[in-house]
Amino acid sequence: MKFFIDTADLDEIREAADMGVLDGVTTNPSLAMKAGASNFEEHIYKICELADDVSAEVVSTEYDAMVAEGRKLAQIHEHVTVKVPMIREGVKAIETLSNEGIRINCTLIFSPTQALVAAKAGATYVSPFIGRLDDISSNGMDLIASIRTIFDNYAYDTQILAASIRHPMHVVEAAELGADVATMPFDTLDKLIKHPLTDRGLEKFLADWDKLQEQKAGQPA
Ligand code: E4P
Repeated sequence: MKFFIDTADLDEIREAADMGVLDGVTTNPSLAMKAGASNFEEHIYKICELADDVSAEVVSTEYDAMVAEGRKLAQIHEHVTVKVPMIREGVKAIETLSNEGIRINCTLIFSPTQALVAAKAGATYVSPFIGRLDDISSNGMDLIASIRTIFDNYAYDTQILAASIRHPMHVVEAAELGADVATMPFDTLDKLIKHPLTDRGLEKFLADWDKLQEQKAGQPA
């Protein structure tokens, strides 16, 4: 499974990249706003210097403007993946841009039919928003399972990018269901490596090691 981090915060991205397990970054206009990325293109370029696959989202909603914006974003850096929302004009733009060899992440996916249409249009990734479905008492994981079955039935190579992940169990369940990518906040990535028994175990090992050194120091020469 690929790990992406869902943020536009450069410090968080640097920290995640230093862990050596980061495969990419997803951003969206809300995350750009949170990071104060007013010079958006320059900010995306900086992220691209830290990560190999960086989703940058178009904000136009008409086909011509979406295509122009997508081309411009793709020119910022070869690591850019253009994020396009699942609307009818977006589907047309996905078709055009993917035919030009531009990687596309089709975002705001909330149903299996939306994912199927995005795959047919040539998207590299579809982003089902798990957490936002859970928020409205729907089961986000059911959507991942359904998309996995559909893509496997027809051998679509579009990758399932589990998005709107809120906690480690979302990552575990998405991995069990065969999602190709999980994009998560830095905090969730950090939680993936935490376990209280690991901390307690290490504390005891280190304390016993110190005792051993004391014993050694107390032994006659
Ligand atoms: C994905 O690409 C989106 O940026 C993101 O996962 C949305 O997550 P949220 O529902 O926590 O805003």
